[in-house]
Amino acid sequence: MSFSAVDVIRAKRDGGELTPEAIRWFINAYTAREVADEQASALLMAVYFQGMSASELSVWTDAMIRSGRRLDLSSVGRPTVDKHSTGGVGDKISLPLCPLVASFDVAVPQLSGRGLGHTGGTLDKMESIAGFRTGLSSAQFVDQLREIGAVICAAGDDLAPADRAMYALRDVTATIESIPLIASSIMSKKIAEGTDALVLDVKVGSGAFMRDVDRATMLAETMVGLGSDHGVRTVALLTSMDTPLGRTAGNALEVRETLEVLAGGGPKDVVEVTVALAAEMLELAGVEGDPATALADGRAMDKWRAMVSAQGGDPSAPLPVAREVEEVRAPSAGVVERIDALAVGLAAWRLGAGRARKEDPVSAGAGVVLRVGIGDSVAAGDVVAELHGDSAHQLDAGRTAMAGAFQIGTDTHEATSRIIGRVGD
Ligand code: URA
Repeated sequence: MSFSAVDVIRAKRDGGELTPEAIRWFINAYTAREVADEQASALLMAVYFQGMSASELSVWTDAMIRSGRRLDLSSVGRPTVDKHSTGGVGDKISLPLCPLVASFDVAVPQLSGRGLGHTGGTLDKMESIAGFRTGLSSAQFVDQLREIGAVICAAGDDLAPADRAMYALRDVTATIESIPLIASSIMSKKIAEGTDALVLDVKVGSGAFMRDVDRATMLAETMVGLGSDHGVRTVALLTSMDTPLGRTAGNALEVRETLEVLAGGGPKDVVEVTVALAAEMLELAGVEGDPATALADGRAMDKWRAMVSAQGGDPSAPLPVAREVEEVRAPSAGVVERIDALAVGLAAWRLGAGRARKEDPVSAGAGVVLRVGIGDSVAAGDVVAELHGDSAHQLDAGRTAMAGAFQIGTDTHEATSRIIGRVGD
């Protein structure tokens, strides 16, 4: 059946409900480039303002999945469970989580992305390991899942191509921040990847897409609903992202922190979120076990080394470091009340850890190291952070972005949990 793109856009613009046929036609025609970019942009803007009903959204997501291939992981021979984070500053959780869960004989098919803007990307972090390959064929991906159970690699071009085309349009038409569009974009890729179950980490706060708990809850409920519509058991945790996660933001710096966590140490908040997500993943897989023990006894580290080696990386190679390191000092004495995640994310980006356009290179060694955490007492002039960059220009830009990142006052803080909510059965 064929439709007029103008009629579909007009119907949504005026608040109408699109028929399943119209949605499928539009997504297929846009993926085949039979509908123009300006028409797809207009429909995305209409969805941004008018939203979509649950049934429209389910068909929309299904059409995006069907625009490419849905992988079949049935030959892996173990339950498959993946995790997706909506993105935050210092969010390296996928790195320790994937081998940790795989150490329980559960397969974790982590198809990941690159960083854009102030949030880092898992692939960029993994590529700071000498030799590590993120481009695997579907056959290599499935073989590694069967043999090791842990894979972190890039999604192939045939995975939800409608999303790839639409995400690029949304990025340049101010239509990213729409709950149905974010939910369908994330879930179409995760469902097409073929996982049996999925745990979502929906970040809330100044360093995240979702600044408030209500919108984050709505996004989580929408994604959990889409998972169940498509036979993928899905649970979401809401975790706070007002403060950077852990003590590092930057590619190799975050791998270094990952190794601390896999060695049974590392920052408390990174361990808390990793263990909480792992427990949800094991529950969905129907496997009993205590993730904290597998971090402490080295099983997760063994799995990490096996995964890195299988993808051509050298797990013992020294990690790259930036050419220059500059210290940031406390302007006054007191207690660290706040470390602004957005400011730290922007600083890491400007220091070279992130990219402004998707074709830009990233620096493996660049980023920010926090030397203090919330609740720590500092004297005026104490070192509170380090800026790692390759040039004076990058250090200048990082320093400017970090200005005001630390709020130092008199409030003594109780350590609080990062986990602020859960959506799912
Ligand atoms: N991540 C995605 O994959 N899609 C979105 O729309 C937003 C974040």
